[in-house]
Amino acid sequence: MGGGECRSNDYGAAAYWDARYSSPSPSSTATTGGGGGGGAFFDWYQAYPALRPLLRARLPASSRVLMLGCGNSLLSEDMVKDGYEEVVNVDISSVVIEQMREKHMDVRDMSLFGDGTFDCVLDKGTLDAMMCGDDAPLGASKMLAEVARILRPGGIYMLITYGCPKERVQLLYQAGSHKKIELYIMPTPGYQLKWSKGVSLAQPIMEEVSLTVDGQLPPDYVLKDPESHFIYICKKPDAANEANSVVANEGETITSK
Ligand SMILES: C[S@@+](CC[C@H](N)C(=O)[O-])C[C@H]1O[C@@H](n2cnc3c(N)ncnc32)[C@H](O)[C@@H]1O
Repeated sequence: MGGGECRSNDYGAAAYWDARYSSPSPSSTATTGGGGGGGAFFDWYQAYPALRPLLRARLPASSRVLMLGCGNSLLSEDMVKDGYEEVVNVDISSVVIEQMREKHMDVRDMSLFGDGTFDCVLDKGTLDAMMCGDDAPLGASKMLAEVARILRPGGIYMLITYGCPKERVQLLYQAGSHKKIELYIMPTPGYQLKWSKGVSLAQPIMEEVSLTVDGQLPPDYVLKDPESHFIYICKKPDAANEANSVVANEGETITSK
């Protein structure tokens, strides 16, 4: 996974992740999907400093945040160090849960959590893993329906993925019943380092891109880094009058059935 494709159906299976997290080889290179075993911390795609501007702009420190498929990422820990008061972590791998002392849970059934009990659900690589599973896209749809249920009205589902709009937006609109989706595109950390000639950047390179009315990239849009990550910010409608409209771009509204 990473680089825009499912490299194995196993990514959707708990046994795969248990074996991976039990493996003795610790990871050294973050973000490309090459590590995570041996109890070492490993962040897929992007780490907290790159995502911080998006999170801080939308989520006050008092927000209740759910980390879907937390793995052994440092994201939750870094958020708490940065002042976030409540970050709940869940994962299907009992091995990583034992290592991280978090909640064991299959995100296709989150009945342990009540309706509307989270301000934000963060997903970095978990929908991607599920889209590689044998039950895709059904399992992913179940998860998105659960996310929609546990978010409070006006709450945010933030998805960090390798999946471009063609592969993700339809699913987010249908299964996640999201009405408004913002898209940011962020080159890989490796590309950012090369672009800045090795100097670490005060602000990550990140571009907000308006989706077309049918939820796609503008036809003339060219990705700077073909391996870029896509960040979808999906807001659950917070009022009854938002419920029947889909806003694709500022000023463009599609009325849904
Ligand atoms: C690509 S890793 C991402 C880990 C972490 N979010 C990160 O950014 O480093 C995907 C994670 O999703 C978890 N996962 C896969 N299917 C799941 C499911 N049905 N329920 C809960 N977690 C799942 C895996 O165990 C794995 O830890």
